[in-house]
Amino acid sequence: MRIGVIGAGRLGGTLAAWCAESGHDVAVTSRHPERVRELVDRMNWRMRVMPVPQAASFSDMVIFAPNWASAKEAVDLTLGAIQGKVVIDATNPADAVPGAPGPGGLAGMPGSFSGAVLAADEDLGASTKSPAVMAAAVTGPPNEAADRLLARAGGKSGLETLIEWAPEAHWVKAFNTMPAEVLTRRRGHDPLLAEFVCTDQPDAREAASQIIRELGFAPFYAGGAKAARLTETGGPLQSREVDVQDATDALAEALTALR
Ligand SMILES: NC(=O)c1ccc[n+]([C@@H]2O[C@H](COP(=O)([O-])OP(=O)(O)OC[C@H]3O[C@@H](n4cnc5c(N)ncnc54)[C@H](OP(=O)(O)O)[C@@H]3O)[C@@H](O)[C@H]2O)c1
Repeated sequence: MRIGVIGAGRLGGTLAAWCAESGHDVAVTSRHPERVRELVDRMNWRMRVMPVPQAASFSDMVIFAPNWASAKEAVDLTLGAIQGKVVIDATNPADAVPGAPGPGGLAGMPGSFSGAVLAADEDLGASTKSPAVMAAAVTGPPNEAADRLLARAGGKSGLETLIEWAPEAHWVKAFNTMPAEVLTRRRGHDPLLAEFVCTDQPDAREAASQIIRELGFAPFYAGGAKAARLTETGGPLQSREVDVQDATDALAEALTALR
């Protein structure tokens, strides 16, 4: 498959290298090609550097990993070229690297996760950890109860913002919860690290899950585009280093916190 990585920095460069090592043809973007020269040379003919619009056109699938402050500018450069394509969004709106001291998460932002917590109501209740809810979290449709609570709290996830900016693409949130160093350490090791996946689009979810598996992680479905807030900076799934077994509990705890 042809994979375009928009923003080949600490995270994007790491993912790009693994995609190339897995046998994909990879295009990375940089406004400063000399910064990715060593990476591109190391990957030989499996990787090349391109401007953002060309990389988007070249790709069957896109991994989106620029700084959030540049996300709108980067998205605008892809418009028309990502029509109907799966785009994996690895950004965090507050731009913090998971686990590192950062801008303090989403607490002060409109529609913050703490706002969701304040929107307590009876919707989830004691059934949050029921086998049915858990089964839906792993394999089923978007978690509608969680989406309703998040909608009531106002605001939106970074993923929803990207969908607004470029509704033509099939957006999936993934690879945003753990530092690249942790991904590197855990990659392919048993038990596989759970990679939280959020999307409203089942086909895109399957395509992204396939790549996640190929790169050595276990995709774990956490909900729709609204639920991406659970995984973004300040959300309860950010920096949760868990395998699939513990991811079930982590998601249940995150949903309980919405009550
Ligand atoms: N680092 C991690 O471990 C990690 C983990 C999970 C999530 N994330 C998230 O991933 C995102 C990137 O983080 P990072 O640490 O990888 O940042 P980084 O090392 O600073 O890399 C950012 C990349 O964004 C590109 N970029 C900046 N402005 C751009 C523009 N206008 N158009 C296109 N590309 C542009 C840069 O390319 P140029 O060469 O052109 O400047 C660079 O390759 C953040 O939202 C962060 O929260 C990071």
